[in-house]
Amino acid sequence: MYQLLDVAKGFLESMNIKEDYVLCDFTMGNGYDTEYLCKKVPKGKVYAFDIQAQAVENTRKRLSDAGLTNAEIIHDSHAKVLEYVKEPINGGMFNLGYLPGGDKSVHTMRESTMPAIEGAISLLKKGGILVISIYPGHEEGTLEGQMLLEKLSQLSRFEYCVTNFRIINSPDAPFIIAVERYDK
Ligand SMILES: C[S@@+](CC[C@H](N)C(=O)[O-])C[C@H]1O[C@@H](n2cnc3c(N)ncnc32)[C@H](O)[C@@H]1O
Repeated sequence: MYQLLDVAKGFLESMNIKEDYVLCDFTMGNGYDTEYLCKKVPKGKVYAFDIQAQAVENTRKRLSDAGLTNAEIIHDSHAKVLEYVKEPINGGMFNLGYLPGGDKSVHTMRESTMPAIEGAISLLKKGGILVISIYPGHEEGTLEGQMLLEKLSQLSRFEYCVTNFRIINSPDAPFIIAVERYDK
């Protein structure tokens, strides 16, 4: 049985992450993914977004404890990515849904997820990868998944490879969409 997060990391690492790359964690939560990304790019930078103060606090502490100083922590919606990130990015992670152990009523929503992903795609360098983990176990997660499958399947097949990785006999199981921009 695969671990979803390991598969998400596998997609990202398939681009051979270089130490000076610029990456984004669009949903920093408790900071596990931000820490992972920061360690991958010790001479680069990680932009990390979350709307919850608790997430910002938890991530700051995690990075500080790990001695990592290469993240820019942004306490705001990922929908505003283009207001904060003014340089091309090599890749990014979206781990949608709600903060584990936190307030389940605060979760990602279609109306902010879509502009965030569109913004991320517009910043994505050639050869770059965005990986999105989706959780259909709650209603908004189901709708986010449907929206993303529909919209992202319309990306040009000449410029992007869009992959859907999922368990096909368990409709509520989390799944992944990866968007890779071809390096040509
Ligand atoms: C599944 S958790 C992320 C887990 C995280 N990556 C980690 O390593 O712990 C989803 C997070 O998305 C955040 N979120 C919800 N809406 C958001 C938005 N519009 N912009 C940025 N973050 C958002 C939630 O506050 C929550 O912390």
